[in-house]
Amino acid sequence: AEAKIGVTGLAVMGANLARNLARHGHTVAVHNRSQSRTKALIEEHGDEGAFVACETPEEFVAALERPRRIIIMVKAGAPTDAVIEEFAPLLEPGDMLVDGGNAHFLDTRRREAALRERGIHFVGAGVSGGEEGALLGPSIMPGGSRESYEALGPLLEDIAAKVDGVPCCTHIGPDGAGHFVKMVHNGIEYADMQLIAEAYDLLRQGLGLSPAELADVFEEWNKGELSSYLIEITAEVLRQVDAATGRPLVDVIADRAEQKGTGRWTVQIALDLGVPVSGIAEAVFARSVSGHAELRQAARGLPGPSGAPAGPVGEGFAEDVRRALYASKIIAYAQGFDQIRAGSAEYGWDVDPGALATIWRGGCIIRAVFLDRIREAYEQETPPVTLLTAPLFAEALGLAQESWRRVVAKAAELGIPAPGFSTALAYYDSLRAERLPAALIQGQRDFFGAHTYQRVDREGSFHTLWSGDRSEVGA
Ligand code: 6PG
Repeated sequence: AEAKIGVTGLAVMGANLARNLARHGHTVAVHNRSQSRTKALIEEHGDEGAFVACETPEEFVAALERPRRIIIMVKAGAPTDAVIEEFAPLLEPGDMLVDGGNAHFLDTRRREAALRERGIHFVGAGVSGGEEGALLGPSIMPGGSRESYEALGPLLEDIAAKVDGVPCCTHIGPDGAGHFVKMVHNGIEYADMQLIAEAYDLLRQGLGLSPAELADVFEEWNKGELSSYLIEITAEVLRQVDAATGRPLVDVIADRAEQKGTGRWTVQIALDLGVPVSGIAEAVFARSVSGHAELRQAARGLPGPSGAPAGPVGEGFAEDVRRALYASKIIAYAQGFDQIRAGSAEYGWDVDPGALATIWRGGCIIRAVFLDRIREAYEQETPPVTLLTAPLFAEALGLAQESWRRVVAKAAELGIPAPGFSTALAYYDSLRAERLPAALIQGQRDFFGAHTYQRVDREGSFHTLWSGDRSEVGA
C-alpha cells in the first residue's frame, strides 16, 4: 500500500481531482470501471505526479494506505450506490468513502447511516468549481464524521482553492450537511444566473445594446460590488462570435435552459422546510418555462404592451439595472442562507454560515467579492436574523431600492419578463410591511373551513360563526 488517497470514476471531474491531488505531491490510486479512462489519464497526465493505475477494485483497495481514503466521482443516484456496494465489502472499519458528486443529501444520510453500521466513514462532499475548479482548486464542502475530517481535511484543504491563504474547504457538519449546502449553493447559482440573464435581457431590449456592447457593460460591472465569476463569464459568453454564422453566439444558442436537478431539489426541500426561497424558485421555473416549446408556441400571438412606454428608457437605466441586480442578488443569497439555517436546525448539523461564506469566496461557481461581505455579516457579535438587515446589506438595499422599483416597473411596461427581479422586490417589501394581507387569507380560511385565526389583541384561537349570527367564539 503506497497511495495516500484513491479516486474511482475518472470522467473529467474525477480525473481532474486526481490530477490536482497528484500535482500537490500526493500519491493517488486511480480506478475506473472501464480501463480506457485510466489508461488515457496516465498517458496524457501521468507525468504530473505519482499515480497508481489500478484495474480492479481489489487492486485499488490494496494500493491504499490505511485507513483508506477513497473519493467516488460517478453519476449521482444508482451509479453511486453501485460503486458503494462494490467497494464497501473490500473495506475495513475506519476506512473512508467520499462521494464528491452532486448527490441528494437524503441519499447521503441514508448511505452514511448504512456504512456507519459497517464501521466505514461515509463523507458526502460537495465539490464546486466545474472542471477547471477540480483541477486548479475547487471549493469543497465535506460532511460526515469529525473523525473522518481529521484524516481527510488536510488533503482536501491542500487541493482546494485559497483566498487570502485560507483554503476553500471546511468540515460542514455530520452526514448529509455537505451535500445539503452544495445543493443550496447550486440553488443560489441558479438564482444568480437568472438575475444576470434578466439584466442582460432588460439592457438588450430596453436600451437596444448589442451583445458585444453588453459584454463591455458586464466587464465594467465586474470591477465593482458585483465582481464575481458569473459576471466575468457572462461578459465572455456575450463577446463570443459564432464561427459558422458570424453572429453573436448568444443569438444562435437555443433559448431553452436545461437543468440536472440540484436547483429543483433546493426548492423542493425549501417547501418542506417552509423557507421562502422565491428567488431560487423563480429561477428554476424560468428554466422550466424556457423549455416548454408548446406553451410558448401557443402563446406567442398574445398581445404585449401597446404604444410607447410611459417613460423613456434613458442613460440612467443601465445603472438602475445594475443596482436592481445587486439588490436582487442580496435577496437570493439571504434566502439561500435562511434555508441552510433551517436545514441545519432540522437535521441538527450546526452549520456555521460564516465558515460557509468563507469557503464560497473562491473555487466555486458563485465565488464573488460579495461572499466576503456575507462572511463579515456573520462574524458580527450578533449575527443578523436575515442578511437583509446586516448593516452593509441594509444600506445597499436602501441605496438600490428606487432603482430596483423603476426597473421592475419598466420591465412590466415593456413586457420583458423579470421574474427574478420582481420576486426579490416583492420579498423585500413583504418583509418590510407593517401588515400583510395574510390576515384576509386567515379570514377566508375561517369562513370556508372553520380553520380559526388568531387576533392581534388577545391570546388564543378564534372562529367567527360565518353561517350563523357571525359572532365570534373561542376555538
Ligand atoms: C458547480 C456546479 C456543478 C454543475 C451544476 C450544473 O458548483 O461546480 O454547480 O455542480 O455544473 O450542477 O447544474 P445544472 O446542470 O442543473 O444547471
